[in-house]
Amino acid sequence: MKITVIGSGYVGLVTGTCLAEYGNDVVCLDVDANKIQILQEGGVPIFEPGLEEMIKRNVSAGRLRFTTDIKESVDHGTIQFIAVGTPPDEDGSADLKYVVAAARSIGRYMNGYKVIVDKSTVPVGTGDKVRAAIIEELAQRGEQTSFAVVSNPEFLKEGAAIEDFMRPDRIVIGTDDDTAKDLMGSLYAPFVRNHDRILFMDVRSAEMTKYAANAMLATRISFMNELANLSEVMGADIELVRKGIGSDPRIGYHFLYPGVGYGGSCFPKDVQALQRTAEEHGISLKVLDAVEKANHAQKSVLVDKIVKRFGNDLKGKHFALWGLAFKPNTDDMRDAPSRVIIEYLLNHGATVAAHDPVSIHEAQRVMPGWQGLSYEDSPMAVLPGADALVIVTEWKVFRSPDFTEVKAQLKNALVFDGRNLFDPKRMQKEGFEYYPIGRQQVTN
Ligand SMILES: NC(=O)c1ccc[n+]([C@@H]2O[C@H](COP(=O)([O-])OP(=O)(O)OC[C@H]3O[C@@H](n4cnc5c(N)ncnc54)[C@H](O)[C@@H]3O)[C@@H](O)[C@H]2O)c1
Repeated sequence: MKITVIGSGYVGLVTGTCLAEYGNDVVCLDVDANKIQILQEGGVPIFEPGLEEMIKRNVSAGRLRFTTDIKESVDHGTIQFIAVGTPPDEDGSADLKYVVAAARSIGRYMNGYKVIVDKSTVPVGTGDKVRAAIIEELAQRGEQTSFAVVSNPEFLKEGAAIEDFMRPDRIVIGTDDDTAKDLMGSLYAPFVRNHDRILFMDVRSAEMTKYAANAMLATRISFMNELANLSEVMGADIELVRKGIGSDPRIGYHFLYPGVGYGGSCFPKDVQALQRTAEEHGISLKVLDAVEKANHAQKSVLVDKIVKRFGNDLKGKHFALWGLAFKPNTDDMRDAPSRVIIEYLLNHGATVAAHDPVSIHEAQRVMPGWQGLSYEDSPMAVLPGADALVIVTEWKVFRSPDFTEVKAQLKNALVFDGRNLFDPKRMQKEGFEYYPIGRQQVTN
């Protein structure tokens, strides 16, 4: 099938590339000329495991190309995916200006039936806005071409995006148009060959499903973080509690890891957007209010431990920091807890040497010229002379360090672990002072 993907970011690039992998003829559009130039020159503007090779393969096979030319991209695809950003507006609601702009550009150039598929995460009712924008553009040209609007929210996880897209748990398709339903069903059939995981529904339910999923996941994280904080005070170990409850199939093991709060490009903004939608309709989502508050507080948990240990004046203190991205296997720094932690340490007079396997360039972009913050290209290189090691992201490469070497490099054998990477007993044996989340600290 001929497919156009509007917006070549994390979701758009993965969507376009995976659809090309199954033999579709795909054009990816972006308004960011720099991004398109990188892609046209064989580079990839984001880090996502496996993506670069898959792009290369499909570009050389002639099934995938990149453009900034809107007319060309609208002409190309019978199915037009909208995968542009929906960042939070000032009041937390989803800013739909990019989605509406994309819809308008389709309306401006289309001639002939098109299926317009909203893949961006958008509030309930956005399908109607997309439809209205297209009708307006068509009317201005005196055109009456028919089209369908579909909601097809994306559930991929950054860091495992290719795997998630190629082997989805479910594919949600919201539409009331039979032709669009058939086309979308055929497009996704190769992705669900061993058993059918396509859920057809109406547009509004599909839009709501995406927010419901992210809000539920954010709730699990905040719930566990609050229980971790209580466990710590009560002498319980949250890691044992986690296993104790995860074994219940009604609860399950996923998304029960305590830490330094959720971040990234989705949970924070989607939780807020859902709250604003509810408010606009006179409904208060009390659980989500608490989820957000708890997450905000959790981003300071590691800092609170540091202050308790060193005092509020951190002048002259130097910290080694492992992990900048909001989670492993991505370079995404949007709403990353590391930013809150680093900002606090610097504002209180400390200096920070940070390492992350892939997101140093993104960190430099979002924290430009921050005085006292430096970067090193290996985990061990940040350690020399540091008063403590602070672990913020659970990259695999941090999990089995040479503890003797870590101890030898640090000024103090002191670790604040925001991801519970190590066994406290082992840390005690290795001679570390160790501060995990929701477990007993080791003070030696
Ligand atoms: N990142 C994720 O893990 C993830 C997962 C599921 C859903 N989503 C949702 O998918 C959407 C996209 O997220 P993302 O992380 O890929 O964003 P992103 O910022 O990485 O990419 C969006 C791209 O759209 C481009 N763009 C904006 N307006 C455009 C226009 N009118 N025409 C063409 N291109 C345009 C931007 O230049 C940018 O490259 C959001 O709604 C997000 O909530 C994201």
